[in-house]
Amino acid sequence: MRRTVDWADGAVVIIDQVALPGAYRTLELRTVDDLVGAIQRLAVRGAPALGAAGALGVALAAFAGDNVQAEAERLATARPTAVNLRWGVTRALGKLGEGPEAVLAEALAMLDEDEHLNRTASGHAADVVLRETTRRPLRLLSHCNAGHLATVGWGTALGVVWHLHERGLVESVLVDETRPLLQGSRLTAWELAQAGVPYRVQPDSAAALAMSRGLVDCVLVGADRIAANGDVANKIGTYGLAIAAAHHGVPFVVVAPESTVDASIATGADIEIEERRPSELTRFGDARIAPDGAEVFNPAFDVTPAALITAVVTENGVRTPQPTS
Ligand code: MRU
Repeated sequence: MRRTVDWADGAVVIIDQVALPGAYRTLELRTVDDLVGAIQRLAVRGAPALGAAGALGVALAAFAGDNVQAEAERLATARPTAVNLRWGVTRALGKLGEGPEAVLAEALAMLDEDEHLNRTASGHAADVVLRETTRRPLRLLSHCNAGHLATVGWGTALGVVWHLHERGLVESVLVDETRPLLQGSRLTAWELAQAGVPYRVQPDSAAALAMSRGLVDCVLVGADRIAANGDVANKIGTYGLAIAAAHHGVPFVVVAPESTVDASIATGADIEIEERRPSELTRFGDARIAPDGAEVFNPAFDVTPAALITAVVTENGVRTPQPTS
């Protein structure tokens, strides 16, 4: 599969994640406006992919030459929860003094690093999964999409599945559909099908029952921001999954690159949680599925306390949480 985020002929080129699984197509984004729009409607999404997109967005702004600092801030704040977005923007912006070509070179270096870091992190996490479980082959549970599509390449939590599948160690993956935007059924299931890994899509609310029936050997999720104490912000529903996993003694493993760690934030309580528009819940396609005027609470992420997590794994191995002072 091509890179999820790339650069060609002066444009940011992304796999259009809104079109999947119906159509596999790319979009060429030539302005910061186009890129911010694509980020906000989740045509490009997933924490590491957002970091790469943000960095390339600074290159777009640098070549255009107007208000680069302001344009960079607009990119960094296009979505608030995944820290990788600001990280990518800041790193590329650090090269602005050397000109637009240097900004682009830095952004492209970040794209090159991404797949390598994700392969390394998910390789370490595969070792953790094998240490924490006894049954072979494994029945894994995935939430949201933390695969190739959420990164430039390979994936984080789903990268663990690729490593284990290569070794013939995966029986199947239970894929949470991931309400309300269905990143699990639309994107993760599509990636697993492409790779020939057996899977079943389930409603998010089936996960606890699956664990109670002994159908899950390990839960694997990605992360959008990791606080210094090891609390993890990830797609809404992750916290409930972790509670169910702890109750049933199922290992719960988080996989992310170090760029997802925000050491400036002591605990998850300080992580800003994006709230998205009501229509994501009141409409399904063209159909209305809630009464006219229904009030809505639609947080896109939640925070899982470190105490519920078996291991947070990055390219440096298992992270040791820093206690809150
Ligand atoms: O709203 P999204 O689709 O950008 O949310 C993405 C997630 O929560 C992913 O699980 C997370 O970014 C980890 S991706 C490697």
